[in-house]
Amino acid sequence: MRAIHLGLMGCGTVGTGVARLLLEKQALIQARTGIALILRRVADPDHERDRGIAFAPDTFIRDARQIIDDPGVDVVIEMIGGETIAKELILAAIKKGKHVVTANKALLATQGNAIFQAAVDAGVEVAYEASVGGCIPIIKSLREALVANDIGAMVGILNGTSNYILTKITEEGIDFESALGQAQANGFAEADPTLDVEGIDAAHKLAIITALAYGMPINFKDIYIEGISKITPLDIQFARDFGYCIKLLAVCKYHGGRVEARVHPAMIPEGNILSSVIGALNAVTVSGHAVGDLFFSGQGVGMLPTASAVLSDIVDIARNKCFGGVGRLPHTAFQPDAVQAIPIMPMTDIITHYYFRFAVHDRPGVLAAISGILGKNGISIKSVQQKGRKTGDYVPIVMLTHHAREADVQSALRQIDTLDVVGPEPVLIRIEDDIQTA
Ligand code: HSE
Repeated sequence: MRAIHLGLMGCGTVGTGVARLLLEKQALIQARTGIALILRRVADPDHERDRGIAFAPDTFIRDARQIIDDPGVDVVIEMIGGETIAKELILAAIKKGKHVVTANKALLATQGNAIFQAAVDAGVEVAYEASVGGCIPIIKSLREALVANDIGAMVGILNGTSNYILTKITEEGIDFESALGQAQANGFAEADPTLDVEGIDAAHKLAIITALAYGMPINFKDIYIEGISKITPLDIQFARDFGYCIKLLAVCKYHGGRVEARVHPAMIPEGNILSSVIGALNAVTVSGHAVGDLFFSGQGVGMLPTASAVLSDIVDIARNKCFGGVGRLPHTAFQPDAVQAIPIMPMTDIITHYYFRFAVHDRPGVLAAISGILGKNGISIKSVQQKGRKTGDYVPIVMLTHHAREADVQSALRQIDTLDVVGPEPVLIRIEDDIQTA
């Protein structure tokens, strides 16, 4: 029996799941691959926590560097996270000729280009299926199954924490802070939820899949990012009145020589398949010119779903190593010399539909003043609703637009802000009516 020796760095929730699957599903994996996956070392400074696994004392160590220095380890599994130590260890492992499996989307989104180049130079593989969408095989699909497709657009719900919070606000009418508290109490949200609720984690993931889809270097810094912390039950209620729900979407689209890549809350029609993605689930729709529309959905967080994706990477590398296929697939789905920089469109060039909510004084002429400014900026109103009780001096006016350019919308909002009949902080939520329904 062929054998591959593994070193696991980091034995937190996902690392524990990886160890469990490796130990509990050894026979199944051997039956499928003909390869014995041997967990040779597990490094974590915390030896107190009960992981429900009886590691041999010489297997369970404290210092991940011992794994890097162990010539018997073929594949290093980085489950530490973060951008500093994880990067050092990954680069050190690559230098030692070890293959790497990681779920570290923050690291890959910001430094993936250099890491992949180092791996190519060293003749090793870096696999990262679990970095996007938890257990959903989106990386594999983009690298392999969709190889003959031009990818038009991808729209994802890529952050389970945000989706859980939005689902709670929608279903229970509670505010953002209360929903976040529930997410934290149920173990979905971190103590510091910023990366998740401010859209950064979803943007890390979008940066990775956009590069895979279009053959461009990973470009996180040019992605427009807006999170869900300002979404209110009132806007969710208005959205529902118009037949929409609100999701944190990660969107990329190809436009000839440019791509759109943006993360923000958006209204989507209640009939769209993405509206059925609730709780901590993730989903991605992909449109390929040959396949048409695809819809992937599954657990975006959690011990075993994420570990399952890690195991699929380990098996890919083990197969490549045992059967002579290392380097068979380029890291980002395109051969390195075919990767070309494609600019991400500035947000001001985006064209979509919009929802506005203004707090206004309930007086004659207010609607005319607002719609006059929108008209002067080339923004056509599709629907208007004034509804609900007065709060303080203001009543809410809600407007939906036809297609409008973001630059015009921002300019109009600045002008509307100067009207003394309009209260502070107008709400803008983009509406995605045109996404495929798969
Ligand atoms: N924190 C992420 C989420 C899971 O809430 O989706 C890991 O990518």
